[in-house]
Amino acid sequence: MTDRKTTRIAVLISGRGSNLRALIDACAAPDFPAEIVCVLSNKPDAGGIAHAEKAGIPVEIVWQKDYTSKAEFESAMLAALGQYPVDLICLAGFMRILSPNFIARWPDRILNIHPSLLPDYKGLDVHERVVADKCAESGCSVHFVVPETDAGPVIVQERVPVLPDDTPDTLAARILAREHVAYPKAVRLFAEGKLLVRGNSVAIQED
Ligand code: GRF
Repeated sequence: MTDRKTTRIAVLISGRGSNLRALIDACAAPDFPAEIVCVLSNKPDAGGIAHAEKAGIPVEIVWQKDYTSKAEFESAMLAALGQYPVDLICLAGFMRILSPNFIARWPDRILNIHPSLLPDYKGLDVHERVVADKCAESGCSVHFVVPETDAGPVIVQERVPVLPDDTPDTLAARILAREHVAYPKAVRLFAEGKLLVRGNSVAIQED
């Protein structure tokens, strides 16, 4: 939580960066209480880098292949992020699991977006599993990051129906559109200091 008027965000990506773009667009609104101060990619060819460059946001590339251990890779990420005044880290399709040590550096200050209604369907290949299980509903969750993957307190969820003829791709597209709403919503709540973490749940303070 922060009482600063503007929360300064580092967005970590590995891929196409559509959630990054949604956050860039949200931050462009004059009344949005956050700004993106850097984008860090662990892949030099991540499509999302172009979104950051177009918006004039500094990009840091920390490629795990350049390091011999996870600890060195994470030290390099910390050094890269340390150049910016970061209040909040947003994982947006960042495909590396962060160590407990890294997470402990940012207690209740790392968010992630996951394309399921957590705690259901943690992990990978979510849409394949949801379609195979013939679920009636799915969605996305923005949550605080804790050492256990996809297990932290949930801040915002958006729900969509799963249609009888859905494929994993059609379902993913329907959910992605809601992700682009959910992530800015969660960042706004964080930036406005409205999130109270109590154990593994989040209470949202009313105005
Ligand atoms: C999203 O579906 C997000 O939920 C998951 O990874 C995907 C990233 O997409 N964690 P993008 O790179 O933001 O377009």
